[in-house]
Amino acid sequence: MADTGMTYDVIIIGGGPGGYNAAIRAGQLGLKVACVEGRKTLGGTCLNVGCIPSKALLHASEMFEEAKSGFASLGIKVNPELDLPQMLKQKDESVVALTKGVEFLFKKNKVEWIKGWGAIAGAGKVSVKGEDGAEQILETKNVVIATGSEPSKLPGVEVDQKRIVDSTGALLLSPVPKKLVVIGAGIIGLELGSVWRRLGAEVEVIEFLDRTIPGADGEVAKTFERSLAKQGIKFRLSTKVTGAKATKDGVTLTVEPVAGGGGETVTADVVLVAVGRRPFTECLGLETVGITPDKRGFIDTEHFKTAAAGVWAIGDVTHGPMLAHKAEDEAVACIELIAGKAGHVNYDVIPGVVYTSPEVAWVGKTEEELKAEGVAYKVGKFPFTANSRAKVNHEAEGFVKVLADAKTDRILGAHMIGPDVGDMIAEYCVAMEFAAASEDVARTCHPHPTRSEALRQAAMGVEGWTMQA
Ligand code: NAI
Repeated sequence: MADTGMTYDVIIIGGGPGGYNAAIRAGQLGLKVACVEGRKTLGGTCLNVGCIPSKALLHASEMFEEAKSGFASLGIKVNPELDLPQMLKQKDESVVALTKGVEFLFKKNKVEWIKGWGAIAGAGKVSVKGEDGAEQILETKNVVIATGSEPSKLPGVEVDQKRIVDSTGALLLSPVPKKLVVIGAGIIGLELGSVWRRLGAEVEVIEFLDRTIPGADGEVAKTFERSLAKQGIKFRLSTKVTGAKATKDGVTLTVEPVAGGGGETVTADVVLVAVGRRPFTECLGLETVGITPDKRGFIDTEHFKTAAAGVWAIGDVTHGPMLAHKAEDEAVACIELIAGKAGHVNYDVIPGVVYTSPEVAWVGKTEEELKAEGVAYKVGKFPFTANSRAKVNHEAEGFVKVLADAKTDRILGAHMIGPDVGDMIAEYCVAMEFAAASEDVARTCHPHPTRSEALRQAAMGVEGWTMQA
């Protein structure tokens, strides 16, 4: 076992959005930093098998569907044909380009990428096992655990990445399955379900709860479910999957109502299991420094500090939403604390986005949360049918809803479904960071004609003076 005899200020285990942003920030602040990553490319789940490839397929499949059924009404006659190998290839090319981009940023910021799988090997030590099996021990003042998460398993439903796939296998399906059954109506299930429906699959979603996208505002989720159903996705809510049998011809699932009662079988060519993700905290040598993850595998932290001195944890391995941008914020704050600065994350302003069509986006409290907390609030709402730009683009589905404190008018939450809301939600994130009142947004000039005017009109609605609906 080689000992390099060199001491780092910080070694980050994991090269995903948490890890690579931590590494870059550490480099910027002049710390001696290394990032340990065992994949062949940097970027973690997000860049390699998550956010990025799924968005590449969402965009391409949306273009295909537009060409098939949207262009004609605009006076454009085309007869599109699916070239699935090319669609998958352009997705892979984008992934390669972006992972190379992170490698470039490492060089630019003097971050050393140590290739291999890392684990803590006692206080101040990290062991790294390379592809060739050789192990080296590195010495460091601080360790940041940023090892992310992996798809949760469903008992009785074994993923083989052919007939029964998880989010990774669902990025590679070829040919387009005739029938795809998705288990779980969360973000992954509905994004990837949308991709394959647009490309021609019959899609059925089985969900344990009586609603879709848990965590989102109930009214938005209901509108979203109706919209996806109109597009042809079939929903079986309040239903649990009790087992799956895969043959070379397809899969037979056994399902039953959550409330009890008779079971049934559902057949599919391919099944996508999308029932959540679990933190990746096994085989990390946590026991060598006295860290014990909780029952679900999460590491408890206090301002990113774990129970062990000099060991920090960020991103999906800690509590909170499993989102790349949450990990990125924690990365910056954690490294700034290590560097003696005042790092901080505002957990009240972490947006969520579902990149389907229509898109869904939110930030802050939902109506359900405000009611449960007994907070008096006012609602302003504006439909995209009354927004001129959405209307001329024939994408007028959905609405913007703003929730503001009844006494102070401070914005407590914003919830949207409609065109481009995933980008537009950032306006409310900035407003909320500045503790804005709804009136601040209502009195801010917005460009016409843009969809962003819907954000302003909804804010006007809090005080009852929406002008264009
Ligand atoms: P999720 O937690 O969002 O949804 C999983 C769904 O599966 C839930 O509705 C749950 O009730 C249901 N479920 C659980 N067990 C079930 C069972 N036995 N039978 C039927 N339904 C069952 O998890 P998902 O969609 O897998 O995503 C994982 C994580 O990745 C989430 O934290 C999500 O936020 C994140 N992600 C974010 C994206 C984005 O920001 N656009 C994209 C993809 C993932």
